[in-house]
Amino acid sequence: MDTNHLKQQAAEYAARFIEPGMVVGLGAGSTAILAVRHIGYLLKTGALRDILGIPCSTQTEAEARALGIPLTTLENHPIIDVTIDGADEVDPQLELIKGGGGALTREKIVAQATRREIIVVDESKLVPALGTTWDVPVEVVPFGYGSQQRYLESLGASVKLRPGDGQPYRTDQGNFILDCDFGPIDDPAALGERLKQRTGIVEHGLFIGLAADVISAGAGGIQHQTRKSP
Ligand code: 5RP
Repeated sequence: MDTNHLKQQAAEYAARFIEPGMVVGLGAGSTAILAVRHIGYLLKTGALRDILGIPCSTQTEAEARALGIPLTTLENHPIIDVTIDGADEVDPQLELIKGGGGALTREKIVAQATRREIIVVDESKLVPALGTTWDVPVEVVPFGYGSQQRYLESLGASVKLRPGDGQPYRTDQGNFILDCDFGPIDDPAALGERLKQRTGIVEHGLFIGLAADVISAGAGGIQHQTRKSP
């Protein structure tokens, strides 16, 4: 089965947790966009009604508007019932690396405001430890970004400035992204804390304690994992 089909299966499975009256976080990336399109389809056919979406990126916002999904903001609706978003890596504790699509800061703001964060992936994203296959994206203020690069290297990362269209990639906030290869990470929460202490680092792609559910699709079907209570 091809990866797109698996992503579609995970996206459709997740949409069943959306109910009328809910405020719904709309994630970013190719899998989350499939969920957004499915939500648009459910609204159009009348299978779902009376929801408000909060998009995690300008690209998702444009897609949701084109599909006629009613939108709101965190200012008007500070609590999100359910968010459906993708991930680049998922570990056995349901901790994540996100930000492959560059939307990590808005995605984390939305995730923090969400009661039930549902992550949709194909099974290739399941890893024994974060950092095994994917770099940790770190969003930095352009001013003095070389200083942040040296700091990240001092923590053991091999660091690349994410390229864009002939110039550095810019996030929706106008910032740069440094993709950091730390190798498999022993303690992602501790690393995340260290990154947050550095001025000039806006946000990082380690999503710790945020995913409530992970829905992964593979050759053997859908696997639905839920976070164990602490
Ligand atoms: C965007 C993200 C995406 O959710 C993540 O990169 C996964 O994307 P895809 O579903 O295309 O593999 O974090 O910032």
